[in-house]
Amino acid sequence: MAHGPIRVGDHMATDATIFFGLWLQKPLRIAAANPSGPRLADALARCADLERPGPVLELGAGTGSLTRGLMRAGCPPNRIVALEGEPRLVTVLRRDFPRMTVIEGDATRIGEYLAGRVERLAAVISSLPIKWFPLEAQRAIVKPCLDLLGPGGRFLQITNAFSSPLPNLLPAQIWSYSQRSETKGRGGPT
Ligand SMILES: C[S@@+](CC[C@H](N)C(=O)[O-])C[C@H]1O[C@@H](n2cnc3c(N)ncnc32)[C@H](O)[C@@H]1O
Repeated sequence: MAHGPIRVGDHMATDATIFFGLWLQKPLRIAAANPSGPRLADALARCADLERPGPVLELGAGTGSLTRGLMRAGCPPNRIVALEGEPRLVTVLRRDFPRMTVIEGDATRIGEYLAGRVERLAAVISSLPIKWFPLEAQRAIVKPCLDLLGPGGRFLQITNAFSSPLPNLLPAQIWSYSQRSETKGRGGPT
């Protein structure tokens, strides 16, 4: 039987299947059975200050659900640098976002990947399962990002809580991390 051209909707269904299959194999690394939904992606994109100069870094880009939220918020794909560790998901990202910079690698090496390529970041959005990473790995990810964000720049992290007021539904939360302003001094009131 002849097949017509593949439509985007077909891609998204296939991508969700790839994502689910990877989650079955590596639940602690993929950390979600399904890609994030558009409402969460839009809420996260609203927290990113796109008026700041520099690219937006996305950590753990998966199938690009959060990337699409950034784009809907007005961030062009060529302003986004996406990092993803799973080769099959990297293939999906490169197919769907040919103008975006996609780095295949481990998030703990982000400082190394960005050295000499990026001087400043507007915002970082992360959906990495970072709460399960050892402290040293968390530092290796967050420190270079905060350095490139500079004072006031936001490292935005989504996570799923373990308890929910609604049975069987895990609410997603967005956490925002920034360095203190240089002028406020260390340990002073914020
Ligand atoms: C919860 S999923 C989020 C995917 C996508 N951003 C979304 O919201 O649908 C976490 C993603 O982080 C990636 N990931 C986990 N650990 C990683 C690491 N150490 N380095 C790079 N990517 C990692 C996984 O492969 C997965 O795509």
